[in-house]
Amino acid sequence: MRSLINILDLSVEELDELISVANDIIGNPDKYADACKRKKLATLFFEPSTRTRLSFEAAMYELGGNVLSVADAKSSSAAKGESIADTVKVMSCYADIIAMRHPKEGAPYVASLNASVPVINAGDGGHNHPTQTLADLLTISREKGRFSDLTVGFCGDLKFGRTVHSLIQALSRYDNVKFVLVSPDELKLPSYIKNDVIKANKLEYVQTTDLEKVMPELDVLYMTRVQKERFFNEEDYLRLKDSYILTPDKLINAKSDLSILHPLPRVNEISVAVDKDPRACYFRQALNGKYMRMALILKLLEVEV
Ligand code: CP
Repeated sequence: MRSLINILDLSVEELDELISVANDIIGNPDKYADACKRKKLATLFFEPSTRTRLSFEAAMYELGGNVLSVADAKSSSAAKGESIADTVKVMSCYADIIAMRHPKEGAPYVASLNASVPVINAGDGGHNHPTQTLADLLTISREKGRFSDLTVGFCGDLKFGRTVHSLIQALSRYDNVKFVLVSPDELKLPSYIKNDVIKANKLEYVQTTDLEKVMPELDVLYMTRVQKERFFNEEDYLRLKDSYILTPDKLINAKSDLSILHPLPRVNEISVAVDKDPRACYFRQALNGKYMRMALILKLLEVEV
């Protein structure tokens, strides 16, 4: 039995296989309509979510399965003090697979040690978000046709942005990927990613506060929201929240085939005027998340189609 806690739990070959299955689902949805008949997915979300929880649930329904959902910590017995270990031991009696989001880093890992069904990390604090990375990889694959030979800019909250951490880990395994890290000084990438992933693998990178200066060299621009919920005081959040706002004029010197990604939700960091630019991929990216979650559920439940 396998869980997915960190994107590096999946080999490059397994990522290729998931992308291939997701593309097959996109082309042949009927083939998968009963693949998970009588299987149940439990979504245990102890932090707010729109895309991740609902795309997991849509994924399971489109595979012919059913869903049990805890959408809010206050509505589960976690509010009475039940431990994560006890919660998932019990959920293992009711569901075949669990997707968990939690504000505490490592909580889904603890869940995976105690559950008797696969556990999927659906976002743990400011740490990791591997299934968002699956959505990001399918998007890059469909938009760019490759993972190698890319200059990828990450802009915004690189400190608390868990999607950034997981995507850098994933892309670190491909050839000739250059990272351009754009953030205010206070929101720089944490050392466990910069040192243990980028520097340890001798990957090319630059750090800057100036998005417009680096814009012309980017193949992919991954914008992120400043993560209000991770700040200790509101004053710092208010000072930093609008550090970067992507508007059409800032894209004038960008490549004509730039791909603009954002895990969403967005607040102010991408103007809605950018949405009609064909280079804006973020709504396609949200849809891709559903297909990759379908592929992942099939893989972890060992369902052959
Ligand atoms: N990208 C993402 O995790 O969105 P939600 O918080 O809405 O799930």
